[in-house]
Amino acid sequence: MAKIFSGIKPTGVVTLGNYLGAMKQFVELQEEHEAFYCVVDLHSITVQLDRVELMDNTRKLAALYLACGLDPEKSTIFVQSEVKAHAQLGWMLTCIAGMGELSRMTQYKDKSQNSENIGAGLFVYPTLMAADILLYGTELVPVGDDQKQHVELTRDLAERFNKRYYETFTIPEPLIQKEGARIMSLTNPVKKMSKSDANVKGFISMLDEPNVIRKKIKSAVTDSSGVISFDRENKPGISNLLEIYSLSTDTPIDELVERYKDSNYGTFKQDVSEAVVALLEPIQNRYHELVDSAELDAILDAGREKAEAVANKNLAKIEKAMGLNRKR
Ligand code: TYM
Repeated sequence: MAKIFSGIKPTGVVTLGNYLGAMKQFVELQEEHEAFYCVVDLHSITVQLDRVELMDNTRKLAALYLACGLDPEKSTIFVQSEVKAHAQLGWMLTCIAGMGELSRMTQYKDKSQNSENIGAGLFVYPTLMAADILLYGTELVPVGDDQKQHVELTRDLAERFNKRYYETFTIPEPLIQKEGARIMSLTNPVKKMSKSDANVKGFISMLDEPNVIRKKIKSAVTDSSGVISFDRENKPGISNLLEIYSLSTDTPIDELVERYKDSNYGTFKQDVSEAVVALLEPIQNRYHELVDSAELDAILDAGREKAEAVANKNLAKIEKAMGLNRKR
C-alpha cells in the first residue's frame, strides 16, 4: 500500500483531459492505497479570479471528484486552503528553492509569455505544489504528463531539504499512465487539451451536454488519409480519438483499430461520441445530485479533519528539522 497525493485546480471547467489523465487513475488507486485528493484552490489564485466563481468552482470540482467515483470511505477528499499547513510548508520550501530552477519550469514559461503583469504566485507555484505532496509523506503522485516537471522539482527540493537539515521527506515518484497522459485538443491535436483554450471546440468539459459532445467530436480535426490507425506523429487527430475511445470504454487501442479497419471517419467519430456520452452521463447525473447538497459539505468537512491531522503532525516534524521551534 502506497501513499498517494494528487490535486486539480478549480479554475474554469474540468475537461475530459483532466479526467482521463488524472481522475480516472485517482479512482482506481483508492482501492489499494492510502490516497489524498485535493481541490487546490490556493493554486487557482495565482491568476485573478472572481471570488464567487472560485467558490463555485471549488464545490463543482469536489462534486465531480465524488461523481467520478472517489469514495470518502476510501480516500481523503478536501480543499487545500482549509488545511493551513499547505501554505506554511509552501513558504518554507520557497526558501530552499532557487530562482533558476523555478524559471526553468515550462508551465511558468508558457503562462508568463506575452504577459506584462506576471504574478509572483505563478513563479513560486511549484513550491506550493511540492508542499502539497511532501506534507503527506507521499510516495506516488498520479498526474498527466504536463505535471511531470513539477514532481521532479518536488523530488529535488525534498532531497535538498533532507541533505541540508534532517532526513525528513519521502521522495515521491510521478505516476503517469502510458495512455491518457496527454489528451490533445480536438481542434489542434498537436496541442494539449486545455480548459484555458480560447476555442471551446478544442476541449470537452466533463459537464458538456450530450449534443455538445457530439458536435465537438464531429468537428474534431483529423487528416485526409481516411485510415483509422494509431500513429501519434503522423495521425495525431485520429490517434487522440482512439485514445479517448479506448480509455472511455476500457478497450485496447489495437482492438479498436481492428474493429474500425473498414470504417470511415464519420462512423468512427459517431461511435467515439457515443462512448464519451455513455461515460459522462452517469457522472453528470450524480454530479447534479451532489453539487448543492449538504452531503458534499459533510464529506469535505470530514476530509479536512482527516487531512489536517496528518498534515499538522508532519508539519511539526518539518518545522523542527528547520529550527522553527523555540525549545530544543
Ligand atoms: P491541473 O489542474 O492543470 O490538471 C489536473 C490534472 O489533470 C492533468 N491534465 C491532463 N492529463 C491528460 N491530458 C490533458 N490534456 C490534461 N490536462 C490536464 C494534469 O496533468 C493534472 O494531473 N499543478 C497541478 C495541480 C496540483 C497538483 C498538486 C497535482 C497542485 N498541487 C499536487 C499533483 C500533486 C495542475 O495545475 O493541474
